[in-house]
Amino acid sequence: MRETMRIMVVDDEMIIRESFLNWFAKGGYFVDAAASGNEALIKLEKTPFDLLFVDIKMPGMDGMELLGRVKTEFPDTEVVIITAYGSIDTAVNAMKHGAVDYLLKPFKPDQLSLVLEKITQLKKRTLHYRYLKSHLKQITRFDNIIGESPPMKNIFQLIMEVAKTDASVLLTGETGTGKELVARAIHAKSTRAQHPFIALNCGAIPDSLLEAELFGHQKGAYTGATQRRKGYFEIVAGGTLFLDEIGEISQKMQVDLLRVLEEKKIKQLGSAGMVDVDFRLICATRQDLKAKIEKNEFREDLFYRINVITIDLPPLRQRRSDIPLLVDHFIQKYNAETVKNVDHVTPEALRLLMAYDWPGNVRELRNALERAVVLSKSRLLHVEDFSFLHLSAETSSDARSLVEIEKQHIRHILDQCNGNISQAARVLDINRATLHKKIKRYRLSPSSQTD
Ligand SMILES: Nc1ncnc2c1ncn2[C@@H]1O[C@H](COP(=O)(O)OP(=O)(O)OP(=O)(O)O)[C@@H](O)[C@H]1O
Ligand SMILES: [Mg+2]
Repeated sequence: MRETMRIMVVDDEMIIRESFLNWFAKGGYFVDAAASGNEALIKLEKTPFDLLFVDIKMPGMDGMELLGRVKTEFPDTEVVIITAYGSIDTAVNAMKHGAVDYLLKPFKPDQLSLVLEKITQLKKRTLHYRYLKSHLKQITRFDNIIGESPPMKNIFQLIMEVAKTDASVLLTGETGTGKELVARAIHAKSTRAQHPFIALNCGAIPDSLLEAELFGHQKGAYTGATQRRKGYFEIVAGGTLFLDEIGEISQKMQVDLLRVLEEKKIKQLGSAGMVDVDFRLICATRQDLKAKIEKNEFREDLFYRINVITIDLPPLRQRRSDIPLLVDHFIQKYNAETVKNVDHVTPEALRLLMAYDWPGNVRELRNALERAVVLSKSRLLHVEDFSFLHLSAETSSDARSLVEIEKQHIRHILDQCNGNISQAARVLDINRATLHKKIKRYRLSPSSQTD
């Protein structure tokens, strides 16, 4: 808790505001006043308050309405209702709606002291509770991987088990689901943690270059090779090699990699001798390697070599219960990085974020929050702060156009068929080409996301 409690008095009568201000200022509290519900909300958006004294009867937004708004938008702020003597029913009703206490007008300073004492105690308890909660939260993150849904807990478990072994791991999953993050976590928890972790994106490097990068070369191996250069197979020396987009490597590279995995030795370009190598291999792919094997584009023997253990990362839309935690995590992260004062998202915005399908998965969610935090001017992120995601049209149940319904239905069927186009086309009773076109038009394909 802050050293001094921050208090705001919300009352349309100036005389009440002033007497509160005087009284609290003497007690060494930080105190502010607002003449209406709206003014109070504007102040709350700017800076946090621990406690609000709110008059029930005010023109415009009355005390009950303000209470409701505060409890949903700023749940950490406590509210004490001020009401006229004789309207105790209203006071009780306010407590039912989340007020911590009430004051009956007219009241004496002693009564105020009692209320304050009670709230100080309460705040201490909630702080303790929050501390416990944040302790418990540690179960919801593993290294830098955030998640509390059953599939993610399962993945944390798998990482622990796999890290104890030296087996090759294949990470599968859509873009942005955290494959690289998992690869790093496996390395960090393994006995190789003190050695390098080297990540190479096979899809981004031309084949000839990839070979030189991995195997290195002798001096004079080709024109321009003025000295011997070690490749990553050697540089990684005892560490973990992470080959991303493994489905992209050429047939020749596939043969070469298989040989290295079997012999644990390499032959540098332009050299006759062999060099011993020692590394753990982790590969990742967004593609269906089994389908590539069927088309003879990927070697089955290599597949079994790299795929001793598979960890499949589910898309975010299949573990929506992780979204609030991730939203919290990224708000804190970008808040700190951009020196902003954002606390949380409104319940309405969270509802929409949880309903959205996130084709770019956690990366897309991360980018969305970064953007919203950077542009935000208040403590809260509202639905409008995410308008670039076109959330509302997809989630409001009424007034949807036919196109919206079609889009949602196709997405639903694709999910049911695990993204299998042929199967989905059969269920939808349209041909594959048409389905492809619609996927493209509605941007349902996960491949359109970039970092
Ligand atoms: N569970 C998670 N918790 C926290 N951050 C996550 C999580 N999953 C992914 N991220 C973040 O999302 C971004 C993308 O993650 P990562 O690079 O691991 O995805 P990927 O599966 O390798 O994607 P691609 O297939 O596009 O390479 C990173 O910034 C990462 O930190
Ligand atoms: Mg990646």
